[in-house]
Amino acid sequence: MIDLNFCVFASGSGSNFIELDKFSKKQSNIDLKLLISNNPNCGAVEYASLNEIKFKILDSNKFLNYNEYVEELLKCLIQNNIDFIALAGYLKKIPNQVIAKFNRRILNIHPSLLPKFGGKGFYGMNVHKAVIDSKDKVSGVTIHFVDKNYDEGPIIFQEEVKVFEMDTPQKLSLRILNIEHRVYKKVIKILVENNFNIINKKIKIERDEID
Ligand code: GRF
Repeated sequence: MIDLNFCVFASGSGSNFIELDKFSKKQSNIDLKLLISNNPNCGAVEYASLNEIKFKILDSNKFLNYNEYVEELLKCLIQNNIDFIALAGYLKKIPNQVIAKFNRRILNIHPSLLPKFGGKGFYGMNVHKAVIDSKDKVSGVTIHFVDKNYDEGPIIFQEEVKVFEMDTPQKLSLRILNIEHRVYKKVIKILVENNFNIINKKIKIERDEID
């Protein structure tokens, strides 16, 4: 089986990043090489430094201009031989040049059933609050490829989560996060086993394929 290296981009508490690290340590052919974050004080960076995982802080605002930032980001991915990228709570836009270079090799996980409750402003608790306010009876997890527009790339996998009448955004978010932790690694494994050989093909992983 082909060995693939991946990089996680994260800005927040990093629970998905931690799960992906544990997963990668159990796989002989999938290596978590690098964490990229815009936020030096986030949980993901703290975990990386405590666990000797290579990380790089890249904040576009700290560069003279945006192109320099993009060049540095691409250089970092190339120098670390990154084959694919998993976004896990990364709050910055991925530059178009990176999306083009890693065509259909950037995944994102989102805590709703896209296209519902996705796009600008739908991050963190905002997503779950909007779901509860909408009175929808179901929310869930979506894993998709990253395209130029936020949360709009082709959907690879979805799993539903019931919304209860007594739910708060926090309670719903915890149930959804639990599912995220279980499914992200499984979807990645399926994609790696197919060597991401899916460009221009529609890929859809069904719920029963990952159990
Ligand atoms: C997750 O809910 C993920 O779906 C979204 O951001 C959150 C990140 O959580 N994109 P964590 O930092 O992995 O705990």
